[in-house]
Amino acid sequence: MATVWIGLLVCACVCLRVTAQLPGFPVLLHHEEDEDEQPKEETPKPGSHEIEMQYMKIDCKVASRFAHTIMTSTALNKANTSQEVFFEVELPKTAFITNFSMEIEGKTYVGEVKGKEKAKKEYETAVSSGHTAGLVKASGRKMEKFSVSVNVAANSSVTFTLTYEELLQRRLGKYELMIRVKPKQLVQHFEIAASIYEPQGISFLDTNATFITNELLPLVEKTVTDKKAHVSFSPTLDQQRKCPDCDGTLIDGDFIITYDVNREQDLGNFQIVNGYFVHFFAPPDLQQLPKNVVFVIDRSGSMEGKKIQQTREALITILDDLYEEDHFGLIIFDDEIERWRPSLSKATKENIKEAKKYVKSIRARHMTDINGAVLNAVDMLNTAKRNNSLPDNSPSMIILLTDGDPTAGETNTAMIKKNVRNATDGNISLFCLGFGYDVHYGFLDVLAKQNNGLARRIYEASDAVLQLQGFYKEVASPLLLEVNLHYPDSIKNSITTNHFKQFFGGSEIVVAGQLNDTQADTLLVEVSAQMLDRTFTIQGQANAEESSDMFPEQEYIFGDFIEHLWAYLTIQQLLNKQDVCSPEECENVTAEALDLSLKYNFVTPLTSMVVIKPETNGASEDTLIADKLTEDERLDFAGQVSSPMLYSSRVHSSLLSSGLVGAKSHKALIAMAVDGDPHFIIELPDRNNNLCFNTDDKPGTIFNLVKDPDSGLVVNGKTIGDKKVKPGSKQHTYFGQFGIVHEKFSIKLMVTTEKIIIYKQDKEEHLHWSEASNVKDLNMELQIVKDHSLTVTLKDTIKFTIMLHKVWKLHPYHRDYLGFYTLDSHLLSKKVHGLLGQFFHGITFEVSDVFQGKDPDKPDAHMLVKGHSLTVTKGWQRDFRMDVEKGENVPCWFIHNNGMGLIDGVLEDYVVSSLFTTV
Ligand SMILES: *[C@@H]1O[C@H](CO)[C@@H](O)[C@H](O)[C@H]1NC(C)=O
Ligand SMILES: *[C@@H]1O[C@H](CO)[C@@H](O)[C@H](O)[C@H]1NC(C)=O
Ligand SMILES: *[C@@H]1O[C@H](CO)[C@@H](O)[C@H](O)[C@H]1NC(C)=O
Ligand SMILES: *[C@@H]1O[C@H](CO)[C@@H](O)[C@H](O)[C@H]1NC(C)=O
Ligand SMILES: *[C@@H]1O[C@H](CO)[C@@H](O)[C@H](O)[C@H]1NC(C)=O
Ligand SMILES: *[C@@H]1O[C@H](CO)[C@@H](O)[C@H](O)[C@H]1NC(C)=O
Ligand SMILES: *[C@@H]1O[C@H](CO)[C@@H](O)[C@H](O)[C@H]1NC(C)=O
Repeated sequence: MATVWIGLLVCACVCLRVTAQLPGFPVLLHHEEDEDEQPKEETPKPGSHEIEMQYMKIDCKVASRFAHTIMTSTALNKANTSQEVFFEVELPKTAFITNFSMEIEGKTYVGEVKGKEKAKKEYETAVSSGHTAGLVKASGRKMEKFSVSVNVAANSSVTFTLTYEELLQRRLGKYELMIRVKPKQLVQHFEIAASIYEPQGISFLDTNATFITNELLPLVEKTVTDKKAHVSFSPTLDQQRKCPDCDGTLIDGDFIITYDVNREQDLGNFQIVNGYFVHFFAPPDLQQLPKNVVFVIDRSGSMEGKKIQQTREALITILDDLYEEDHFGLIIFDDEIERWRPSLSKATKENIKEAKKYVKSIRARHMTDINGAVLNAVDMLNTAKRNNSLPDNSPSMIILLTDGDPTAGETNTAMIKKNVRNATDGNISLFCLGFGYDVHYGFLDVLAKQNNGLARRIYEASDAVLQLQGFYKEVASPLLLEVNLHYPDSIKNSITTNHFKQFFGGSEIVVAGQLNDTQADTLLVEVSAQMLDRTFTIQGQANAEESSDMFPEQEYIFGDFIEHLWAYLTIQQLLNKQDVCSPEECENVTAEALDLSLKYNFVTPLTSMVVIKPETNGASEDTLIADKLTEDERLDFAGQVSSPMLYSSRVHSSLLSSGLVGAKSHKALIAMAVDGDPHFIIELPDRNNNLCFNTDDKPGTIFNLVKDPDSGLVVNGKTIGDKKVKPGSKQHTYFGQFGIVHEKFSIKLMVTTEKIIIYKQDKEEHLHWSEASNVKDLNMELQIVKDHSLTVTLKDTIKFTIMLHKVWKLHPYHRDYLGFYTLDSHLLSKKVHGLLGQFFHGITFEVSDVFQGKDPDKPDAHMLVKGHSLTVTKGWQRDFRMDVEKGENVPCWFIHNNGMGLIDGVLEDYVVSSLFTTV
């Protein structure tokens, strides 16, 4: 699937970028004030008339499923002052960015692909304030968003060009090319042009778009001849208008092309170009094999509500879709494992009816014993095989659906992987469906890959039933088993994966390789596989000359596309292999993937693209970095926020009732923090339901954060402001000093951004951030990591860390500040209170009715907490404990108005008169 989202946003204000950087020194994009902080009140204003979108073109060329897309945008600053122009594009997460350039004032700045480590190093030497803004972020289920901005001088223009490549995968009998377009304002010249060349011939081609109205429909031009298709869409300025007199644009959404190719030959199709070949194998008219499938369904407590309801609904249609000759089993599990029937059943009408009755009765209950459940399913399949009660050549598979981490039985994921691999012994394919965001997706992904299957994320949304059914359909019809594609030994080293455990109807096997010079014009191939009652074998010869005849029209070939296809496939497979290789193999696998990524200029998880942002209008050069996100990072960034669609209507969190928070031994599970301009984070065991609030105050205000009368512990914090307030921006404050008192131990400490002062009877001891040190006495231990953090352990009371955020000295606005994080608080008494302290007891709340808020990317919801009903917003907060420079994004429900309703009383109640006030 190819998705493009291209848009130019214009910052309506005149952004004079006074950035704190040394001239000519590569540095990070400066910290944007509100990035990832509390959801912004103001959304970017639609483009001012002073920035004219002159041109936007999406040019997509597909040759043999390999898509190469170039997106170009030109904007002119018609104002008499310089302005910031933003470029935002959404591209499919399966694509690799291959190039990016900006042309500004006659100069072109081209992104350079480098090894990730190397790029990071370059980047870090110049880091002054530790806040990164990567160019790529996850966006929704299928996409990534690339965004960059540049300051454009008066009366001059900028042209952005982004290129990416991807192999379209056949699913359910078709290829899909999706282009997301969101220009956000009218464009003088707008064009989408897609050219498709498929040597096998195009069997059908459809276009569709989410935004196309009846008026726009006739503007989609489509020409399909035997092997070629051309689709274009170029509405004029007036045709783009929402209404005759308005500036709003109709162009906003997805433009989708779906197609398939003819398949006449069993051997499939070969293409050889410039010494590389690709083999597409998807023989038509094969008889479906009976399969043996065990559905393993999680009914742990977290599945309660919509998820279990959707699972039941999906299972019922899936059961109906089973083929008469199939055998199936149902296992439901929480901490207990229950089989519907002790052994597999044939998919007869009667059995299906019984199974559906059982499915309807499934209810959510307790914990999650993934290990036990999967092993149980393996045993069920193996027993049936041993008893010869299954048809010959019928593949066995397990479809595991879970929404959480293993919490019962074996919970060590390494052990589970080992157990499962040993149990299946390569004979059973395991497909893992991770439902929602609490799943340990990385674990499921590896578990599936190690057992000839694959993992899929099922997004919590109203269409979850369709997602589940869609996935099932992809694996519902196995046609061939043990497919082996054999090529001459001389090219063995260059070919991509050529053995496939099974081939499913509607999909396609793709193998690519590099020919050996000495015999570059012919290629012998043999394919063997197992069918229901016989062996499938076929041999053939592909001829390079014929192949080159197949590409008479150069316009459809972008350079060496088969070579790129080969590199793309090889890198994807090597990256997958990284999850299952031994440490020695992994070294080679990673090195090889990195080499290829660099050679072909692909931005993969091993490389980064470094973009130098020009020096303009007083702002010095910036170095920006575009990274490919890993699946985990994608979740961190996109997670639930990317689209309100991704929500179930009820997010349930009653932590007390699940026993996680109420019990004293679990208290340490709650981490409290305050950092940034002050953001309070209450991190709960259920990571997706963390709570956050920000406070607005005047610099110099002192707040009580923790107060425990039993031990006489007090932690107070004093805020400081920015050096000056950016015009048009609000005053930001940060914690600049903390005062810590422990009356029982007669301890008094002050922590500032410069030093740590220990007050003793009549003298003071000063420690400096610039020196690592460790001070320990009977009741207290202080540990300073140079210029980074201070960890304080107060005996039998509390352990916490204060992080030092160092900002470049000459930064025009920001100054150094501090963050406070609790590490262990389980020994605090029941009486503990304070802005943070009150949450040590745990908190019960319920979130429901997620709906679209002011910010399209940040859904709102209703929260019931402490008897108040609040409107809260899903967003992100940074936790800097692990990484003081970049921080880690944690998802949060933001409570507005200084935490009103969540905190006891109001913010003013926590204001104290001095850092050492204890009453
Ligand atoms: C810039 O344009 C504004 C109106 O658009 C005008 O008021 C101002 O005088 C202009 N400044 C210069 C330096 O030309
Ligand atoms: C990237 O784009 C620039 C500018 O268009 C071009 O000069 C350069 O050759 C491209 N690089 C690659 C690797 O295609
Ligand atoms: C802008 O540039 C054009 C040509 O590049 C020139 O004719 C025009 O006078 C310029 N306008 C201003 C306001 O500088
Ligand atoms: C086009 O897309 C819309 C919305 O996604 C969908 O409802 C409609 O059925 C699609 N039409 C075709 C012909 O696929
Ligand atoms: C591996 O599986 C076999 C049965 O297939 C079992 O007997 C053996 O104990 C298992 N080994 C481990 C280490 O789990
Ligand atoms: C090409 O084939 C010859 C003979 O089989 C072999 O010795 C050589 O290593 C091969 N070269 C490559 C690049 O695979
Ligand atoms: C790793 O690569 C080196 C050199 O390419 C090779 O000699 C070695 O056998 C490889 N190791 C493994 C485990 O594949």
